[in-house]
Amino acid sequence: MTRLEGLVYHAPDHYEHHLLTELKRSGREVTSSGALHFVAGREIPTCWHQNLWTQPWEIRFNSLSDAAAQLRSLGALWSPVFSGNFRKGALIQAKLPRLPERKKPFPIELPKGPMGAWTLVDESTVWASAVTSSPFPGGVPPLEENKTEPPSSAYLKLQEALTVLGRWPSEKDVCLDAGSSPGGWSWVLSRTGAHVHSVDRSPLDPRMDGVANLFFRTGNAFALQPTEFPEVTWLLSDVICYPSKLWDWLQPWLTQSKVKNFVVTVKMQGKDCDWPTLAKFAGVEGSRLLHLPHNKHELTWLLVRG
Ligand SMILES: C[S@@+](CC[C@H](N)C(=O)[O-])C[C@H]1O[C@@H](n2cnc3c(N)ncnc32)[C@H](O)[C@@H]1O
Repeated sequence: MTRLEGLVYHAPDHYEHHLLTELKRSGREVTSSGALHFVAGREIPTCWHQNLWTQPWEIRFNSLSDAAAQLRSLGALWSPVFSGNFRKGALIQAKLPRLPERKKPFPIELPKGPMGAWTLVDESTVWASAVTSSPFPGGVPPLEENKTEPPSSAYLKLQEALTVLGRWPSEKDVCLDAGSSPGGWSWVLSRTGAHVHSVDRSPLDPRMDGVANLFFRTGNAFALQPTEFPEVTWLLSDVICYPSKLWDWLQPWLTQSKVKNFVVTVKMQGKDCDWPTLAKFAGVEGSRLLHLPHNKHELTWLLVRG
């Protein structure tokens, strides 16, 4: 078994090219196996990853049992990522402790222990890391879908964001949900008991009518200022716009408001990324800019302060 002095970066489906752009900017060599990319040396700050394998090893094995035994010697829980050798991989995984399979409705707790990840690089070689950046198998929170109540599937990315944050609003909070139509995020927020202001140019789905703690108004999100909502503790935005416009709108909320929690979708316009603006988001102290499993061509920016 050989320690790989570096990290393995697991790319999200469809957006691997953005991760590769981030990695190659470092000037270092990238060694790839399917969606997994190893780069030697210190961690390269990236947004477009699904999971990071922070303590990778290369394992040579001579039987399925040998592979499983070596993995078990490194850690307890293992989630596989395969791009080939599927049958052999499944046979090795069957010899490892079973992963918790059941999806659960939001909210779910962050698991306390680490989650390992491994892959077959070829017929007799494994890459494995007993510790990854996510405590969930493959970096995906096992959230149960609700196909009947939410007005849009966007609710899932907010549930993922709140799960990753490990916190969500309570009855004491006031939320401002900008770009809220048809209402998936407002549905999630209203169910926490918080007081929810919801603003969009378009109306909410009629299913959201009559929710007692939800207050919708039609309007331009970019006209919303902290002086008008001094009591807001959670600011959320899923507005479709250029990242630079979103950044400018956020400035007074960052400097002149009592907002403690930010959950903001930064949507790419066109095929490429506005890298300079993404760097501004990523550079805010204490914040995270990441690609959640239900994000499309967009990133989620999270900040908790105070
Ligand atoms: C991705 S959708 C939001 C989905 C929503 N979060 C949900 O969970 O159902 C983006 C929304 O941004 C709204 N939007 C775009 N520009 C806006 C603006 N300037 N002011 C208000 N809403 C805007 C659109 O009308 C659209 O409903």
